[in-house]
Amino acid sequence: MREVLTNPLSGYYMHRDVFGREGDFITSPEICQIFGELVAIWVVSEWRKLGSPLPFQIVELGPGRGTLARDVLKVLTKFKFGGQFSMHMVEISPHLSKVQGQRLCFSTETVTDESSPHYQTGKTATGTHVYWHKRLEDVPRAFSIVLAHEFFDALPVHKLQRDGKLWKEVLIDVNSRDSVDSDNQPDFRYVISKAQTPVSHLYQPITNEARDCLEYSLDTDRIISMMAERFEIDGGIGLIMDYGHFGEKGDTFRAFKKHKLHEPLLAPGTADLTADVDFRQIKRIAEEHGKVICFGPVEQGTFLKKMEGDTRLEQLLAFALPENHDIIRSGYKMLTDPTQMGKRFKFFSIFPAVVRKHLEKFPVSGFQ
Ligand SMILES: C[S@@+](CC[C@H](N)C(=O)[O-])C[C@H]1O[C@@H](n2cnc3c(N)ncnc32)[C@H](O)[C@@H]1O
Repeated sequence: MREVLTNPLSGYYMHRDVFGREGDFITSPEICQIFGELVAIWVVSEWRKLGSPLPFQIVELGPGRGTLARDVLKVLTKFKFGGQFSMHMVEISPHLSKVQGQRLCFSTETVTDESSPHYQTGKTATGTHVYWHKRLEDVPRAFSIVLAHEFFDALPVHKLQRDGKLWKEVLIDVNSRDSVDSDNQPDFRYVISKAQTPVSHLYQPITNEARDCLEYSLDTDRIISMMAERFEIDGGIGLIMDYGHFGEKGDTFRAFKKHKLHEPLLAPGTADLTADVDFRQIKRIAEEHGKVICFGPVEQGTFLKKMEGDTRLEQLLAFALPENHDIIRSGYKMLTDPTQMGKRFKFFSIFPAVVRKHLEKFPVSGFQ
């Protein structure tokens, strides 16, 4: 999954735009501006709740075309924070970082010094500094509001399968040429490891784990632990928006090509690979050492409605040209309707444990 999506030469995300009607899938921030605007309002509301610490930084993991960052920036600009916040894009794709730079900045500059923690910098039209990093590790230590929309579902997962008392790993093997009888047969196949692998050995199931097969993302564990540590020491808030479950699903690894499901082992690199986010595992890792507390997951439709999405819709329609009304209405409906994206997509937030009592008095917006 890591090689297919992010190999520097031929990784799926690395050298092209895969979003929108012409691409393979469309994401919520691209569907309707209300999504990004309400996320921005949430950011301001929760940042204020924590005492409006200055300076602060907005960190986005996997910003895609930069649409969410652009809408968040647009709203933050209205609050006139001036130069008191910076934006940090954690993006591995050289192509997408260029697209994001064009979306967000008046001018950008490539940084060639290999020892620099960022590889691109830019300044927005209103003077906010933007930095691009390959990894969260490279983002400066400071109070951070970390946003991740459809990022964790793109991180590699290990497929584990129970065999008696042991967990074994589902691996990918090469199909021998003789067994491939047509061009439509994948070059690869799934096999179960003969013995335990390092990851299946490392995996710690919860007590009474009911599933016999599951997907486990070491990268997600690592990034969530880092966020928890940083939030405790430097302060910060996390908002994860993704499709996922609470530890009840086991087999969600799949591929999308031209908006349709695709066989993941066929022509790897030509389709998006994804697996549902396991929010129970994220909560477990985040709260493991008592550094942070988590809220959610709540359904996307519920979150957007609680954030007064309907009011924003009416306001937007009041100022929009009549010929644009249908597209705005249908976009908002797509985001919130339980039969479309309103139920499958979830919101999940992370706060420093030290504010637990404070948040009991002033509950997290959109999650109450
Ligand atoms: C499914 S797209 C989501 C894009 C955007 N957030 C949206 O919702 O429209 C995943 C994004 O994460 C980036 N990405 C994937 N794996 C990454 C990794 N290991 N490190 C940093 N960025 C990564 C991709 O290049 C892309 O920008």
